[in-house]
Amino acid sequence: MKIFVDSADVAKIRRLSEAGLIDGVTTNPSLIAKSGAEFLPTIRELAAMVEGPVSAEVAATDYDTMMREAAVLAKIAENVCIKLPLTMDGLRACASIRAEGRETNVTLCFSVTQALLAAKAGATYVSPFVGRLDDLNLEGEQLLHDIRQVYDAYPALQTQILAASLRSANHVSGAALAGADAATIPPDVIERLANHALTDKGLAAFVADWKATGQSIL
Ligand code: E4P
Repeated sequence: MKIFVDSADVAKIRRLSEAGLIDGVTTNPSLIAKSGAEFLPTIRELAAMVEGPVSAEVAATDYDTMMREAAVLAKIAENVCIKLPLTMDGLRACASIRAEGRETNVTLCFSVTQALLAAKAGATYVSPFVGRLDDLNLEGEQLLHDIRQVYDAYPALQTQILAASLRSANHVSGAALAGADAATIPPDVIERLANHALTDKGLAAFVADWKATGQSIL
């Protein structure tokens, strides 16, 4: 499963990128607003920093304006993936942008039928929002399983499942177990994925035992 970082915080993304841990980046208008940074320069900086796709979302909701915004975003760099809402206009824009050869990420997916339409529109990625379904006591992870089952039943559907709105390590393992192709994860959650109390306990014992030997490797 590919790991994307779900953030517009350039410093945090750089730290994870330098650790060789991420395959791409996803942003959205809320993350840009939270970062307080300028949208277009931020996308330019991220696209230069990361080899994989950097999802940049259109702000418009009508087809014509989405297409004009997508043209601006696509000019920034080859690895800018155009992120579009899962609406009829967004799906139409997705099909047009894919016909031009550019990657797309269809976002705000909450149902199997929406994922089916995203795939019919040729989306490179579809982003089912696990956490926002869980917020409503609905089954976020089950949606990933269901979309996997449908996509696998119809090999002509080539869209990759990009699990989104993940808020915990459990969400990430759930996405992997559901067979998601990629997961986009907030930076603090990515860092928490490495944590385990038994790792800390075991390491403390190894350090103490090594010290007791009086030896040195260097
Ligand atoms: C990523 O593509 C999504 O926009 C993001 O994961 C949404 O996460 P949230 O539901 O925590 O805002």
